[in-house]
Amino acid sequence: MKIAVVGTGYVGLVTGTCFAETGNDVTCVDIDQAKVDKLTNGQITIYEPGLEKLFVRNQREERLRFTTSLVDGVRDAMIIFLALPTPPGENGSADLKYVLGVAEDLGKIIKDYKVIVDKSTVPVGTAEKVRAAIAKNCKTEFDVVSNPEFLREGVAVEDFMKPDRVVIGTSSERARKIMGDLYAPFVRQGNPVIFMDERSAELTKYAANSFLATKISFMNEIAQLCERLGADVDMVRRGIGSDERIGKRFLFPGIGYGGSCFPKDVKALVKSSKEVEYDFKILKSVMEVNETQKLSLLPKIKKYFGGNVKGKRFALWGLAFKPNTDDIREAPALDMINALLGEGASICVYDPEAMNNVKILLGEKVMYADNQYDCLQSADALIIATEWNEFRTPNFLKIVTALKNKVIFDGRNLFETDAIRELGFYYESIGREIAIPTNGIAHK
Ligand SMILES: NC(=O)c1ccc[n+]([C@@H]2O[C@H](COP(=O)([O-])OP(=O)(O)OC[C@H]3O[C@@H](n4cnc5c(N)ncnc54)[C@H](O)[C@@H]3O)[C@@H](O)[C@H]2O)c1
Repeated sequence: MKIAVVGTGYVGLVTGTCFAETGNDVTCVDIDQAKVDKLTNGQITIYEPGLEKLFVRNQREERLRFTTSLVDGVRDAMIIFLALPTPPGENGSADLKYVLGVAEDLGKIIKDYKVIVDKSTVPVGTAEKVRAAIAKNCKTEFDVVSNPEFLREGVAVEDFMKPDRVVIGTSSERARKIMGDLYAPFVRQGNPVIFMDERSAELTKYAANSFLATKISFMNEIAQLCERLGADVDMVRRGIGSDERIGKRFLFPGIGYGGSCFPKDVKALVKSSKEVEYDFKILKSVMEVNETQKLSLLPKIKKYFGGNVKGKRFALWGLAFKPNTDDIREAPALDMINALLGEGASICVYDPEAMNNVKILLGEKVMYADNQYDCLQSADALIIATEWNEFRTPNFLKIVTALKNKVIFDGRNLFETDAIRELGFYYESIGREIAIPTNGIAHK
């Protein structure tokens, strides 16, 4: 099939490449000339495990092309995916200006039947808005389909090639057949393609992300309780996770969720609820808990340094909002950096993939190390903000040699508390500070 993907970011590039991988002819469109030039020259623009190999192969086989011209990109395509940004607008609702802007342009361009597919995360009712925006200038027949994307950065290729499910919202039989055929190679093992109406499909995506964000915030609150009651959140996590109704995944506490999806999608669902006069109380709390959690290491750090970190130097491992990506959008590490800089501390940072993005954002405000051990040189303490695998079993001798003090504040619970304390470290993590309660009051 001939496919166009408009918007060649994290979702668009993975979508385009994976559809090319199953033999389709794909043109990716983006307004960013530099990005399109790079991709056309065979250089990948994001870090995503497994993507580069597919990108190179499909470009070589001429099934994958890039252009800045919407007209050229969609001319021959039967299916046009919109993988455009939907950032939070001023009031928290998803800003649809990119999606509706392109929809209007498409109305002027398309001359024969096309299926236009919303892959961006968009509020309920957007498919109707997209349809109206296209129809304003269009005489041809077309269908608008809602096909939310569930891929996770870091495992995006695997998620796309073997999705748990594909959700397709459409009321058109013709579009349903085309979309079913397109996705057939991805669900050969029997994972479901779930057809539904457009509105339900749009809400499914927000419900999924909001539920996951809620699970994280719930565990973060349990971790807070553990610290105050003398319980170990790792034990509690294992205790509840073995109940099938709860499940083992997404129960790890830490310094909050970030990324380009959870924060904005939770906010947008709260806003959508308000618009229909519903007060989504749980999600409002989820957001509040997450904001607090992002800085939950700070009081521990300040306490250790006698209430003041002015003039202290910190080493920070991990900048990406999660491992295996270079994405730093809404990364908790950035909140930590800003807070420490605000307190007069200096910071040297290291991340295996996200350094360039942080350099663009923060410039000279922090120092950058070439590797995780150089980062520690002369630092008063190490802070861990992202659970990259290479941080899990580090060379502790090198850590001890480089750090000024044997002090680690771990926002991702990477180490066994007892083992690291045996090595002589002062170690604080999340929800595992076993306290001994006396008369209901917890002491360390
Ligand atoms: N990143 C994820 O993990 C993920 C997962 C599922 C869903 N989503 C949703 O997918 C959508 C895209 O997210 P993303 O992370 O890929 O965003 P992104 O910012 O990485 O990519 C968007 C791309 O669109 C391009 N663009 C902007 N305006 C354009 C225009 N008029 N014409 C052509 N290109 C244009 C930008 O230059 C950019 O390359 C969002 O709605 C997001 O919520 C993201």
